[in-house]
Amino acid sequence: MQEDDALNPATFWRLDGEVLWQTPVGASNRSCASCHGNAADAMKGVAVQFPKIVSGALLNLEAQINRCRSSRQGQAPFAFESKALLSMAVFIGAQSRGLPIAPVVSSAPIDTGRESNLLAGRTLFERRIGQLNLACVHCHDERAGARLGGSVIPQAHPTGYPIYRLEWNTVGSLQRRLRNCMTGVRAEPFPYGSTELQQLELYLMERARGMTLETPGVRP
Ligand code: HEC
Ligand code: HEC
Repeated sequence: MQEDDALNPATFWRLDGEVLWQTPVGASNRSCASCHGNAADAMKGVAVQFPKIVSGALLNLEAQINRCRSSRQGQAPFAFESKALLSMAVFIGAQSRGLPIAPVVSSAPIDTGRESNLLAGRTLFERRIGQLNLACVHCHDERAGARLGGSVIPQAHPTGYPIYRLEWNTVGSLQRRLRNCMTGVRAEPFPYGSTELQQLELYLMERARGMTLETPGVRP
């Protein structure tokens, strides 16, 4: 399903994203394409580099899309998990399909803040949470391949996001997936867009460095 565009349900989101990319909005009447041009050229290799530090702040791809949307187009940012934001992220992600994950590193010797965010992400991955008192690492490093109820525990690689998940019957972001794992161990999930979720994303992308991006993925 994932590999065949005619069967992958996220194809609809990708096509919606393409329309949004070309639609002029706001007083300046600019589309994403007005500044960035053809996405197949301009956005190739972009999604594999996020999250990254932009003007001193850690941004995942969705946050960068909203940064352009508000500061360059003068529009209200797209809501988390909205059809528009997911479509845009699927469309941009798909331009890097097949490329190795390669988050940008700080240009030594200057640490732009990336390293401390990466370390914070790793710490969150290893910290016990929730009433079940489990850390991500306990399932995804120590028990990967084992079963939890009906599902095989994967290695938690963020290679396919945003994904179409059959259980959700829709497309969802990596943050939605992470929040699911948190409520799964009966922990209070971090809010969408929180620094903690972006730090976890950064750590997961670094941990998956070199793996192939497959956006939009399909998962059970
Ligand atoms: C007025 C020009 C302008 C418009 C319109 C614009 N952008 Fe941008 N975009 C930029 C600039 C400048 C950057 C460089 C980083 C920054 O300052 O945010 C950028 C960076 C990006 C990046 C990161 C590229 C990279 O290599 O890291 C993405 C993704 C992106 N824009 C997506 C969008 C999307 C999606 C839209 C439409 C919703 C859009 N942009 C509209 C000017 C624009
Ligand atoms: C109790 C075990 C458990 C814990 C703890 C756990 N997860 Fe998961 N996680 C799972 C299972 C099981 C799945 C697959 C679910 C499915 O297929 O329905 C999954 C899926 C994922 C995926 C999706 C991988 C893919 O291929 O799309 C990511 C990413 C992930 N988890 C990250 C995390 C992070 C980060 C944490 C810590 C905040 C965490 N998980 C905590 C069990 C766990």
